[in-house]
Amino acid sequence: MPSVPWKTAITRIEPNRVAVRGYDIADLMGRVSFGEVVYLILRGELPSAEVGRLMDAILVSSVDHGVTPPSVNAARTVAGTGASLSQSVAAGISSINRWHGGAIEDCAIQLRRIVDRCERDGGSLDDAADAELAQMKTRGERMSGFGHRVHTKDPRTARLFELASQSGATGTCVAAALAVERAFGRVGKSLPINVDGAIGAVLADLGFEQGAMNGLFMIARTPGLVAHVVEEQTRQKPMRHIDPSAHTYDGPPSREVSQR
Ligand SMILES: CC(C)(COP(=O)(O)OP(=O)(O)OC[C@H]1O[C@@H](n2cnc3c(N)ncnc32)[C@H](O)[C@@H]1OP(=O)(O)O)[C@@H](O)C(=O)NCCC(=O)NCCS
Repeated sequence: MPSVPWKTAITRIEPNRVAVRGYDIADLMGRVSFGEVVYLILRGELPSAEVGRLMDAILVSSVDHGVTPPSVNAARTVAGTGASLSQSVAAGISSINRWHGGAIEDCAIQLRRIVDRCERDGGSLDDAADAELAQMKTRGERMSGFGHRVHTKDPRTARLFELASQSGATGTCVAAALAVERAFGRVGKSLPINVDGAIGAVLADLGFEQGAMNGLFMIARTPGLVAHVVEEQTRQKPMRHIDPSAHTYDGPPSREVSQR
């Protein structure tokens, strides 16, 4: 029985030619950055140079966060059982969910709700953030993309917002995120916009499709997970008891990119 033809609009493959969203891959190579090609494959068009730089910054921001995140714990634990690189990295990726790395999409949805409320009620973003947070509190819900176990001021957020502003991509969702941070402050909670929240706000302002948003964190964190699995497999004994809080760092001391 002949198979039913179906369609894809992502990549055309012909003998001796690969074209991603219409662009010859050999032409893209060496000419566009990884951030730009991630934007291209997810959205179908190449971004402006400024938005491409912002995409690169998003991917750089989440490449790793040391040994304490759940995804690294999961990947190292699975690696310690003798699993392969792919199995161990997959375990790490499987731990990227609503509360870790996967808060991007939920945060974008919640920020858009605040923006909608502001437009509907005609008040300020601060009023809308107060009202939304109060309602969430009565429902026992958390505001995704806010709070952090380690940081009281996430160092990645300010830089990302700075680059978003330079790219002209800062819009109402970034403004709503800052309003939420102020609203938490007014009720005595110092909950910083974390990297997920910052990425969620920026991607929402860029008009990204919701369903792809958490994927940006997965794409960004994969190199970090590979590094942790390889280090676990080469530096540690199998099946060790892993206590993330008991680690010490013995890598290079602090250094500047400008010194490379
Ligand atoms: C990241 C996170 C798990 C860190 O939590 P934590 O520092 O261990 O804080 P706790 O869970 O102990 O919460 C401390 C207080 O802050 C509140 N809180 C923490 N994060 C909150 C949030 N995002 N929204 C509303 N309240 C929050 C808790 O309700 C708690 O309040 P209480 O003392 O009145 O009970 C938490 O902030 C969170 O769930 N954030 C949302 C998910 C998210 O953004 N994940 C990505 C992290 S990079």
